[in-house]
Formats: sequence, structure tokens, C-alpha cells
Amino acid sequence: MDFSQMLERPRRLRGNPLIRSMVRETRVSKSSLIYPVFVRDGKNILEPIPSLDGQMRCSVDRLGDILEDVAKAGVKNVMLFGIPDHKDEVGSQAYAEDGVVQRALRFAKEHYPELYLITDVCMCEYTSHGHCGVLCGHEVDNDKTLPLIAKTALSHVQAGADMVAPSDMMDGRVLAIRQELDKNGFTSTPIMSYAVKYSSAFYGPFREAAGSAPSFGDRKGYQMDFHNRKEALKEAALDVREGADILMVKPAMSYLDIVREVADNFDLPVAAYSVSGEYAMIKAAAKAGLIDEAAVACEAAASVFRAGAGILLTYYAKELAKWIDEGRIG
Ligand code: PBG
Repeated sequence: MDFSQMLERPRRLRGNPLIRSMVRETRVSKSSLIYPVFVRDGKNILEPIPSLDGQMRCSVDRLGDILEDVAKAGVKNVMLFGIPDHKDEVGSQAYAEDGVVQRALRFAKEHYPELYLITDVCMCEYTSHGHCGVLCGHEVDNDKTLPLIAKTALSHVQAGADMVAPSDMMDGRVLAIRQELDKNGFTSTPIMSYAVKYSSAFYGPFREAAGSAPSFGDRKGYQMDFHNRKEALKEAALDVREGADILMVKPAMSYLDIVREVADNFDLPVAAYSVSGEYAMIKAAAKAGLIDEAAVACEAAASVFRAGAGILLTYYAKELAKWIDEGRIG
């Protein structure tokens, strides 16, 4: 056989770790990771979350335990979720000045000024019925919910949030928040919109963790149908027009095609949320001895950036930071 005409040999660039990392097309860095943190009412609580092996839930007085680890790992960005003791029809603890997230923000701002504090803005953890807004009969009333979402975002920013991230999927909520923040002088606070959020069974472990499962029905009346692609572009375009600064796609793993579409069609930074079910599946498979946890988690994280996202929300953020240092990903 004559191989003299085989000029292209892709293997030349795979010869050793140095050349492989030199020609790498996708880079993953700590600065692009966001770590979700669950804060609940109560005192002296630091408890494992059963549905999310390796994740903790804490009261505000123990938040330092969690943030210390985050800071030590070299992760700079956190997303705060609140779990109140008291829930009611209109989710009033979501926008209470002394609500759990508001207190967590004041603590974190004072003690961890080096961290960038993002908050999830939604009602589902705060309503007695577990839906993402106020009800009219059995439906979530979009326009009655908007002022409450805007009020919640404002209260977070007043308590020290650096950025707000609405996840409720009401129509018009980015504009409602932008106007409320601007009216109160917070014109520089960015909004990361959960612009493309599918109604997904991958949120199961989170709802267990946050006690936010709807008490009846589902979220299909406001979150997106997982069969749809063009609708994702429509949702993203709307949020751009309403003043979003960052567009998020959620979940990540089963929606990498959508991450690519959003990244190609818009000039805003794109974030992807690798949700609780994605994390739980890797954990469970690793525990069963079926896969190498670190290797699979690194591969899954890189896929999100390869698909075009520049920001990744993940429960693996602290471990990924370590794996970046160890050269397993990066
Ligand atoms: C609140 C919210 C949810 C998640 C993020 N924000 C739950 C939901 O929409 O039911 C899911 C995050 C995860 O699964 O990791 N609306």
C-alpha cells in the first residue's frame, strides 16, 4: 500500500497532552462557573440534601460554611435559592425585606465581598401551591404575577444581589424587572434571564431539595414544551428586546442543540443550567460503579461550552474548579 498521498493526519495534533491542550477548541475556566446554593429559614442548620448527593442546605447563620468552601475552590459566582418556613398564596416571603434570600444576601455581601451574588427570582418556593406565580382558579395569572416578580427582584438588589435571574417564565417579566430596577436607580444591575426554560422532569431532585413541587397540575402552562426549537428563539428574542443582559438555556444536557441555536442567533452571553437531574444521574451512575464520576462530569461540562455557552450553572462547580487545576478539563 502507498500512503505517500495521505497528507492530512489528524493524529499529529493528538500526540501528547501538551499539543492536545494547545489546539483545544473549547476552554473551560473557573470564572465561567456559577454554583447554586440553597438557603433556608431556621437556625444552625447545615444539612445534606437527600436528592442531591454532596449538596447542602443551610440556614443563614451557617451560610459561611458553604461560601467558605466555594471561595476556597476558586469559584466566584453563586446563585442563591431560598426555602422559607412560611408559604402563602401570594408567596409574600419572596419579597419580604427580612426574607431568607434577603438576609442571606446581606450576610454574603458583608462577609464574602469577593463573590458575585446572583439570585433566582421566582415564586414557586414561596407559594403554598408551589406554582411560579399567583393563581386565578387553577391557572397562574401572568399579569398579576409580574409586579410580584419585579418586587422580588428589587428586594434582592436592595439587599445586595449583584444580578437577578428570573426563572418564572411569565411573559413580560424581564421588562417588568428592568423597569422596576431602573425606577429605583439600579440601572447597572444586570438581568440573566432564564429565557429558554423547558418544562422538564430533570428538575425533580431540585423540587425535592427546595420543597417547590406544584401541589396540583404541572408547569406546562408556562414552561416550554420540550418538542420545540423555534419557540426557543422566540423566547430569547423577546427577552433581548425586554432588556435581558444574559440569556440562559435550561436544562443543558438534553438541550445542547438549543444552546447552539441561541449562541448562533444572539450576541448576548449565553448561559446553560446543568440541572439537578443531570447531576443526580451522574452521581447515581457513579455510585453504582458504572462510570467514572470526574471523567463524565468533565465531559458533560465541556459539551455545554462546545455547544456555544460561555457560562455554566452546575452543582459540580467546586469539583470542576479542582479538576481544572488538575488538568482534567480546561
Ligand atoms: C425555580 C427553579 C427551578 C429550577 C431553577 N429555578 C425549578 C422549577 O422550575 O421547577 C431547577 C433547577 C434544577 O433542577 O437544578 N422555578
